[in-house]
Amino acid sequence: MEAEEALRIGVLTGGGDCPGLNAVIQAIVTRASRYGIEVWGIEDGYKGLLEARARPLRREDVRDIYAIGGTILGTSRKNPTKSEEDIRRVLDNVKKLGLDGLIAIGGDDTLGAARKLYERGVPVVGVPKTIDNDLSATDYSIGFWTAVQTITEALERLHTTAKSHKRVIVAEIMGRYAGWLALMGGLAGGAHIILIPEKPLDIDEVCRVIEEREKRGEPYTIIAVAEGVKIPETGELAVAAAERDEFGHVRLGGIAKFLEEEIKRRTGKPVRSTILGYIQRGGSPVAFDRILGIRLGFKAVDLVKERKFGYAVVLRGTEIVPVKLDEVVGQLRRVPEELFEYTDVFRG
Ligand code: F6P
Repeated sequence: MEAEEALRIGVLTGGGDCPGLNAVIQAIVTRASRYGIEVWGIEDGYKGLLEARARPLRREDVRDIYAIGGTILGTSRKNPTKSEEDIRRVLDNVKKLGLDGLIAIGGDDTLGAARKLYERGVPVVGVPKTIDNDLSATDYSIGFWTAVQTITEALERLHTTAKSHKRVIVAEIMGRYAGWLALMGGLAGGAHIILIPEKPLDIDEVCRVIEEREKRGEPYTIIAVAEGVKIPETGELAVAAAERDEFGHVRLGGIAKFLEEEIKRRTGKPVRSTILGYIQRGGSPVAFDRILGIRLGFKAVDLVKERKFGYAVVLRGTEIVPVKLDEVVGQLRRVPEELFEYTDVFRG
């Protein structure tokens, strides 16, 4: 691979962080340096792009970061397309920073903004990431399997304490409006009841399972509930903070506490709840996320080199392929009905 073009790529990470982002960044710098392409890291996602805050990333700056969680670039939930003024500022800063291509690593919000910026002339390539795994264009997004592993370990720990105390423990799991994390983490962690947003919550049924388990000599139950499960009486989401971010999202949280109270009230049994929270986004990426991140980073640089903009690189089966940003954004992938049977594998 020859140093034939004097290109400069900007890279940013947007939205919630996740394990595997640094693997993408290291791969981008590694691949680009083989082509003689310069990489600049934009700090704090689109916020940094609006403020023209960027620094050169050389190979020595990214050495061995692939195994470290989070993002060395920082991130934000800044929407750079909220106003015409901001869009113009982005266009100016892309020019000012001398970027021939911009790799935006993020979830639906970040990639949605990337699509809008592309339409306005910014040469963008997207890389999908989110622990929620709710982007339908890719089979898996970076960070998901690490979060599943973390949830698995957390649920295993809850098993021993729930069993010792003969308690019901409700664990609240991230995922926003999709139940992938609760389903896969709950399954691998042996949750007796898994509650996901895609399946309406039936609290009577939950109590029945708890009571049946007790009758069978299993007086403890682990419930994995996705944060996006709606409260049946009101049909509303449990919200931790009603204030909306720049992409219009409220912060979800509270369904586990609600269930704790309801189950206690209906069964009279000892119930506790716990929110797994940001632990799910932290830590070192599992092998799958490291490798996926590296592969996506390589492919993203290749697209910039070919000047194939307006695409995201995604995982389809075992292949990394380019897909138009139009087909990637706004397509929330939810747990399909045929997987519902896995929500109660361990009910007893
Ligand atoms: O999208 C990832 C995610 O971790 C969701 O699962 C969660 O609802 C949200 O981000 C939390 O957002 P914040 O980091 O803004 O609190």
